[in-house]
Amino acid sequence: MTGQQPHVFVTRRLPGGALDRLHAVAEVDVWEGELPPPRGELLARARNADGLISLLTERIDGELLDRCPRLVAVCNYAVGYDNFDVDAATARGVLLTNTPGVLTETTADFAFALLMAAARRVVEGDRYSRTGEWQTWGPELLLGVDVYRGTLGLVGVGQIGAAVARRARGFEMRILYHDAVARPDVEQRLGLQRRDLDTLLAEADFVSLHVPLLPETRHLIGRRELARMRPSAVLVNTSRGAVVDTQALYEALRAGCPGAAALDVTEPEPLPPSHPLFSLPNVIITPHIASGSLTTRSRMADLAVDNMLAALAGRLPPNALNPQAGQQRRTPQG
Ligand code: DGY
Repeated sequence: MTGQQPHVFVTRRLPGGALDRLHAVAEVDVWEGELPPPRGELLARARNADGLISLLTERIDGELLDRCPRLVAVCNYAVGYDNFDVDAATARGVLLTNTPGVLTETTADFAFALLMAAARRVVEGDRYSRTGEWQTWGPELLLGVDVYRGTLGLVGVGQIGAAVARRARGFEMRILYHDAVARPDVEQRLGLQRRDLDTLLAEADFVSLHVPLLPETRHLIGRRELARMRPSAVLVNTSRGAVVDTQALYEALRAGCPGAAALDVTEPEPLPPSHPLFSLPNVIITPHIASGSLTTRSRMADLAVDNMLAALAGRLPPNALNPQAGQQRRTPQG
């Protein structure tokens, strides 16, 4: 960089001290709202920025990159990056980054918490107690399904799927997986068995989704797939809401198959309070908080800032998603 400090727009306050490191080398403009900046504000605030730290709520596409011609890099504060148009950024020489690794265990903890909560009807039990319905101990009160030695079906075994498998081993579960590619290493290390999706859905007591949102995974779990699940099965989604067809899920749960769902992600997001899914007792819905521990969210901020600092210094960021953008890379301007 020559002369002036670079300018970085950050679309939300981030936990931990990561932004202090950015302040040391750049002029940092942080969006203070709880809600994402409206599109117009985003375009205006990023217009003269050299770097942008974005959340999954911001769409980063050709229009934005053209309207922000100084941008050298856009660093997502998330491991998922379906909010990025990667080709558009690569064509314009803008580096994109994400935050892999640091949220794996925290997200897996939460996926397992949802699985347990749905299986053992924890949220229903809490509601039952609070609303004064609890009259006595009952042999048939809120009966759930056993997790111990049940069959878990993982759809996607990247880092998070594998971390869920490690937890499941502690419960002596039989673990099946479906993935676009065979993972003999993970099969061996964690005792997983590969299945095609239909077979996995038919055999699993618990189905947990761990795929990125791509054109081929949009509504991967639709009416047909839900109909293959067991009536007592539990569907857990901590990936992206659009991997599941929400309307089909509502109808399936209402009809009693699968038996329950636990969703940390929905389509749309947030799900409006009037959505019929909220009327069903056999659904748990949380507001996309699977990676939400203070430690992990601070580590994500550290990684996003590390990526940004590297890009501003003209280096390839450690988590570059499109290193090929480096060929015609926009260079930081002074
Ligand atoms: C991600 O990182 O992609 C999560 O959805 C939010 O932590």
